[in-house]
Amino acid sequence: MACQSIVSMACIALLLGALMAFPTSVQPIGVCYGTLANNLPPSSEVVELYKSNNIELMRLYYPIPDALQALRGSNIKLLLDVPNEDLQLLASDPSAASYWVQTNVTAYWPDVSFRYIAVGNEVMRGDKAQYVLPAMQNIYSALSSGGLQDQIKVSTSVSQEVLGLTFPPSHGDFSPVAKQNLEPVVQFLLKNGAPLLVNVYPYFVYIYNKQDITNISYALFTSSWTVVKDGQYSYQNLFDAYMDALYSALEQIGGSAVEIVVSESGWPSAGGDSATIGNAQTYNQNLINHVSKGTPKRPGKAIEAYIFAMFNENQKPAGVEQHWGLFYPNEQPVYPIQFH
Ligand SMILES: *[C@@H]1O[C@H](CO)[C@@H](O)[C@H](O)[C@H]1NC(C)=O
Ligand SMILES: *[C@@H]1O[C@H](CO)[C@@H](O)[C@H](O)[C@H]1NC(C)=O
Repeated sequence: MACQSIVSMACIALLLGALMAFPTSVQPIGVCYGTLANNLPPSSEVVELYKSNNIELMRLYYPIPDALQALRGSNIKLLLDVPNEDLQLLASDPSAASYWVQTNVTAYWPDVSFRYIAVGNEVMRGDKAQYVLPAMQNIYSALSSGGLQDQIKVSTSVSQEVLGLTFPPSHGDFSPVAKQNLEPVVQFLLKNGAPLLVNVYPYFVYIYNKQDITNISYALFTSSWTVVKDGQYSYQNLFDAYMDALYSALEQIGGSAVEIVVSESGWPSAGGDSATIGNAQTYNQNLINHVSKGTPKRPGKAIEAYIFAMFNENQKPAGVEQHWGLFYPNEQPVYPIQFH
């Protein structure tokens, strides 16, 4: 841009506009470091692989000491899970929660940049749902006693199936069971300024609804036209439609001020219906390019999202589950991806 000697208001406005077009915050894209495999590189190499690919956010499903150790000083922001098997104990015993936080979090702070603790993964519709809120409260108290409650947000990660109604997006609603379990959790999140973590998989929506979604381009962010018109909003991709259904559902339980973080999303490269390297590359690259734009209901509201997953994992169930990785265990990319 050529601004000549006369500093005109128009020129300043143009310059400001150009500056504002560049995102200044953290890249809102992370990658899930799943470890259900017996052939993965050591955590220290994994952390290097994150860094060399400019991946600034990580989800880790278990406080693996080697991984936490390797993350020290890395500046990678961490979403750490409290595994489901610990929920009951941590819900019933504040001192166990305090010990958990001391050993698995405080011991590494501030060398490791913990960002969120996900108390349970996809348990909102089952027997363990009852433990989630009390465990969140106990973990929160434990963090508070070290003064960390504002820096490390306590949440839980839910399955996309918490929505009983996704269409049209403006009518999005939680299923009755999920709603009952989520209402108090959402109140907790509101009170503490924490986001709800949601695993969002247009892949599964697509393969199970091919009678309605006749063109895969809607799932891959490649449709060149509006596929769903919902009142004032036009949808060209399934991801936005799902996110807006979720915002609508949250509005119905008084949670319109709760932010959503996509704690998993991705596309498999082999082993199942529509699982090809080309589709996986297309989906994940387009997801990376898309999330800063927001959705029709929340335009410009960047969505932080974590791609599932870093590696193909050979100890997951055979078939499509083993092929979600961006990398093979030997650290070679399954397909090229640009994190910017
Ligand atoms: C650290 O986390 C792991 C996984 O949840 C758990 O098994 C372990 O007991 C925790 N440490 C403490 C001292 O609670
Ligand atoms: C699917 O969508 C793509 C992109 O919008 C378009 O080019 C293609 O023709 C569509 N295919 C069919 C069968 O409608």
